[in-house]
Amino acid sequence: MMGAPGAGKGTQTHLLSEKYGLPQISTGDLLREMSKAETPLARSLKETIASGALVRDEVLADLIISRTSGEDCRNGYLLDGFPRTLIQANLLGELARRQGNEIRVFSIVVSMDCLLKRLSGRRICTLCGEIYNVFFRPPKREGFCDLDGAPLLQRSDDFEDSVKRRLAAYQESTLPLIDYYRQGGRLKEIDGQRSVAEVFAKLSESIDDI
Ligand code: AP5
Repeated sequence: MMGAPGAGKGTQTHLLSEKYGLPQISTGDLLREMSKAETPLARSLKETIASGALVRDEVLADLIISRTSGEDCRNGYLLDGFPRTLIQANLLGELARRQGNEIRVFSIVVSMDCLLKRLSGRRICTLCGEIYNVFFRPPKREGFCDLDGAPLLQRSDDFEDSVKRRLAAYQESTLPLIDYYRQGGRLKEIDGQRSVAEVFAKLSESIDDI
């Protein structure tokens, strides 16, 4: 699942994972989890993520190779936010060949104005990870999760400077991959500016057509 920061990759991949029974592999979530350890690598990950820059390809390679070798990935898996560079795309191609998988790419397309609102308005439950948005999907009680009442937090990279850097990294390193997959005939672009349910319906339709 590809798309600019805030396009809705996490929201949609989570729903698809439930519908199709395939594991959601979100490199952003995995890296944030890794960054909580007390190690030099974890500290550098924390800094890189908060700054909005991309994490080194070598770190991503180790992460993806190890995560996709799990038993739950035997029938395929949903990648959320990977690949983001040509080096990562080449690695994925190689992995897919070895694992006997076929790659399908969905790109969620959203305008810049909308992305900025989605990122600045995003709030996440500190307990269950449920994603809210103060503009588009506010919780019933401000600042607290509807599901478990735990406090909601704003991500360290959802502040203005980091958002600018993330969008720049997307333009520079990830956008060229869209063309790469389009030329290979593997890409399906989805209008991400509709409601969550409508985007989900379009994605499901495209997957069922495969
Ligand atoms: P990551 O966590 O992947 O962040 P991102 O790509 O910037 O994407 P986001 O999680 O911000 O947005 P999303 O598209 O998932 O949208 P969401 O569904 O949450 O990566 C974080 C960092 O980790 C990177 O900056 C980098 O440092 C590192 N990293 C990760 N992968 C890497 C890689 N492969 N290589 C190198 N570094 C890597 O939705 C956003 C908001 O919009 C929410 O509030 C949601 O409720 C709302 N929303 C969603 N859909 C809709 C809709 N249809 N209508 C209205 N509101 C909606």
